[in-house]
Amino acid sequence: MPQTLKLAGRASLLARCFPEIWADPVLKAPVRVIKSHKTLDEMPGPSALSFFSDLFCKKGLSRLHELQIEGKTKYGPMWKASFGPILTVHVADPSLIEQVLRQEGKHPIRSAISSWKDYRECRGHAYGLLTAEGEEWQKTRSLLGKHMLKPKEVESYTGTLNDVVSDLIRRLEHQRSFHDQHVVKNVADEFYKFGLEGISSVLFESRIGCLEPKVPQETENFISSINTMFIMTLLTMAMPKVLHRIFPKPWQKFCESWDYMFEFAKGHIDKRMAEVSEKISRGEKVEGKYLTYYLAQEKLSMKSIYGNVTELLLAGVDTISSTLSWSLYELSRHPEVQTALHKEIAAVMKGNAIPTAADVAQMPLLKAVVKEALRLYPVIPGNARVISDRDIQVGDYLIPKKTLITLCHYATSRDAKYFSNPNSFQPERWLRKDDAHHPYASIPFGFGKRSCIGRRIAELEVYLALSRILMHFEVKPEQDGHIVRPMTRTLLVPEKEINLQFLSR
Ligand code: HEM
Repeated sequence: MPQTLKLAGRASLLARCFPEIWADPVLKAPVRVIKSHKTLDEMPGPSALSFFSDLFCKKGLSRLHELQIEGKTKYGPMWKASFGPILTVHVADPSLIEQVLRQEGKHPIRSAISSWKDYRECRGHAYGLLTAEGEEWQKTRSLLGKHMLKPKEVESYTGTLNDVVSDLIRRLEHQRSFHDQHVVKNVADEFYKFGLEGISSVLFESRIGCLEPKVPQETENFISSINTMFIMTLLTMAMPKVLHRIFPKPWQKFCESWDYMFEFAKGHIDKRMAEVSEKISRGEKVEGKYLTYYLAQEKLSMKSIYGNVTELLLAGVDTISSTLSWSLYELSRHPEVQTALHKEIAAVMKGNAIPTAADVAQMPLLKAVVKEALRLYPVIPGNARVISDRDIQVGDYLIPKKTLITLCHYATSRDAKYFSNPNSFQPERWLRKDDAHHPYASIPFGFGKRSCIGRRIAELEVYLALSRILMHFEVKPEQDGHIVRPMTRTLLVPEKEINLQFLSR
């Protein structure tokens, strides 16, 4: 090989491995050149005042997902903005998001400043997996991971979850019976109850009655506490701390909601533990196939069990409800997709009544429908990371350590550069072999070490529920052409009620 080619080859290899080393075009040999980084001062973005007025005067808190798209159009893929007292860098391009996540380190931090953490400090509660950091997070993640990340372990919850799905079908039958057109009003409400019953059955291996015709008041209170807590999360974070004293209501309501959620979880854990101790005292063998039991076996302190179970209960309600509501909303508006999906389910089930984990694994369109619903309506529209120990380079910028970096998933997953017809529901796009998508363009469960630990349970639960709903019912909109848009309430939820007709098959 000629010497110049060899050198050029080495130079390009070095350039790829060490981006700060460039191949000199004349010498065709590597020369060390340090790239100059832009600083935060050079980064574009709205003034603090205009962002503040967007948030508080133009209903910006509930439109945060849209502000991602507006920000990207105005300033490009990276911009800075002050979210109340917090300066945050927005990143709205998949390869830049990838750069952030690849530099997140051993113990990734979602956000160092958080009203959720403030509440726990204030009340002396333990952190759960969502809020813990560092070694404490790592220890809990490894413990829970053993039971929540291994496919075999997760599959073992199929029977428990299918019992909950049977109750959901009965509940939908019951709710639609009140209406001549078989309409179930506000399906998200039904799916909150399903989500709570589902995650409770996994955590406690017992039922708490959310899907009974008469729903226990404490269940309604728990669900409304989650709602209030999510609304107040954004408000309390956007308000500078001095304003908390002048307008104490948001912080008070936020704390009261968490108090209720901790109490609810504690009540259920204590009840379950008492049943176990009674069994032991009677000399009976105790076997558990539920998460709280495993946590107790691992000798986790009771305080830590309360913290973790509260957060797992919370994580399993709105996420499941939103995913099911949007999936059915889109299926009701796309009857051709619904028919194809029904055909797929019928072909796999061959007359059997209850799908198993192995059955849903053979339903590619079902998975594509859920993926597409999560692309259009990512439950967490904007996630975050803080790199606490070093400055990092992202794109052309050097981001100082401890800066809050907002990952704009809603903007990337609706970007025409990465998805053709980005605002339309086209589950087939996930099935076409030639239609490769940037792996970081739609990541509804996050990515890496700190990604969603409930992903496998959530997917199983959603697949089991959706397949069975479609085996029983054809789902249609209550009114043709009725559009429901998403809104941000920390999570992305339907802006108004989704009302659907459930017609018997
Ligand atoms: C469709 C349903 C769900 C979606 C879309 C979802 C999405 C997410 C996302 C985006 C994150 C943050 C990941 C990151 O920062 O990289 C997360 C974290 C988490 N999720 Fe989920 N989730 C869902 C269901 C669930 C369920 C059912 C549970 C509980 C069983 C759960 C438990 C958690 C926990 C504990 C974390 C924190 C993990 C950690 O910090 O190590 N999620 N989820």
